[in-house]
Amino acid sequence: MKIARFSRVGFILAAAGSAVGLGNIWKFPYITGEYGGGAFVIIYLATVLLIGFSIMIAEMLIGYLGRKDGVSSFEDLAPKNKHLWKFAGFQGLAGLFIMIFYSVVIGWIFNYIVTSIYYLPSSVEEAETTFSTLLHSSVWTQLFYHTLAFIWITYVLTKGIKGGIEKMNFVLMPTLMIILLGMFFYATSLDAFPKAVEFMFFPDFSKIDSDAFVVAVGHAFFTLSLGMGAIMTYSASMEKNSNLVKNAFWVVLLDTSIAIVAGLMLFTFLYQYGSGPAKGPGLVFISLPAAFFEMGIVGNIFAVLFFIALAFAGLTSSVSLVEPMVQYFIDRYSWSRLRASISMGLFFYLVGIIALLSNIDGFKDILTWGDKSFFDWVDYVTAAIMLPLGGLAMAIFIGFVVEKQRVEAILKPQLGFAFEAWYFSLRYITPVAMFIVMLSLIGVL
Ligand code: PHE
Repeated sequence: MKIARFSRVGFILAAAGSAVGLGNIWKFPYITGEYGGGAFVIIYLATVLLIGFSIMIAEMLIGYLGRKDGVSSFEDLAPKNKHLWKFAGFQGLAGLFIMIFYSVVIGWIFNYIVTSIYYLPSSVEEAETTFSTLLHSSVWTQLFYHTLAFIWITYVLTKGIKGGIEKMNFVLMPTLMIILLGMFFYATSLDAFPKAVEFMFFPDFSKIDSDAFVVAVGHAFFTLSLGMGAIMTYSASMEKNSNLVKNAFWVVLLDTSIAIVAGLMLFTFLYQYGSGPAKGPGLVFISLPAAFFEMGIVGNIFAVLFFIALAFAGLTSSVSLVEPMVQYFIDRYSWSRLRASISMGLFFYLVGIIALLSNIDGFKDILTWGDKSFFDWVDYVTAAIMLPLGGLAMAIFIGFVVEKQRVEAILKPQLGFAFEAWYFSLRYITPVAMFIVMLSLIGVL
């Protein structure tokens, strides 16, 4: 059987498409707002460079050497204890779980694309009411757009690596970049631009506590799509003789620059037309539309374009969140791609409906446990526990389990003298850092 592989540029775009997601444009600006700006950005950047980049190379290597779904790759590469290591590959499940809320959020974005054409809220209070009505009472609207997201994502998956995933990324990623860059250049011409630069890059370390530190590290993981098997599964379809280090470099560079461009642009608009850097998940759904309102008709055009870019970012990440499990059923159980894609799609679609209902008045009470709704629980368990655990497993696997000669054979020519530094960081720095983050996130520290 001939296996479809990504082209070189196709791989970089698809992996960047996975990395650049709701995390960059929706989450990064609001957590930067929440944790005080510059100092937070510096910690996040340092984590991306010191930990994220090295795990990205390790995760790519597992896929590239294994050439199969995550479970089989771990199993094949482990010199012993294969049955144990194979479980690390079930990390792919985390992607399906993330999709449970990711698809619902993409649904909100679809809704905002449509409504922004003719309506923007005239104040932050009004924007708050609009968003909270959508979230807490509009079952059918949310269900409609959630269904649309499900159909789009599943359809692309049924078309496979080349005809589906690569093709979609070839169109959506450049479009997204053009929209964001266009809006960014407009933002640089506004008076408030220097203020946004100052907010994002002038650190005030008094604002940083251990919580901010943990969030910055956790976010570096989420935004680079690490620890789940998305990058690993894509890497199984990388061309032979690819340069992993260069590929990882491009993905990290694109992901980070898009987050910074989006952040600078959004904060400029919020300073210029709104109430300054907003905090919390409502930033793009509440404060931003109210700021766009102040811009008149240009605001409507910008809002529509912005939400299109955000939807594209979310969709290209979504396919990478589901593909690991699709690949698993194809490789291990010889399912057809069609059957695997539709089954996995139906899983996140149906459970996603429960997540959606868990925000709706009337259903909320039966779908809330402790202080979190089902929706929030899924977000918390995947991001706080599953991804860091997966990252830890990958670092240990390449650092200690897979024979060093095997790792060296591929990466020494690509990393040169930096190989030993990378290997050391993977073995010692990364696991310790990940462990601390995990303990803090689940509240032990
Ligand atoms: N990186 C994506 C984002 O920033 C989310 C994601 C996480 C995608 C893990 C794949 C795997 O939104």
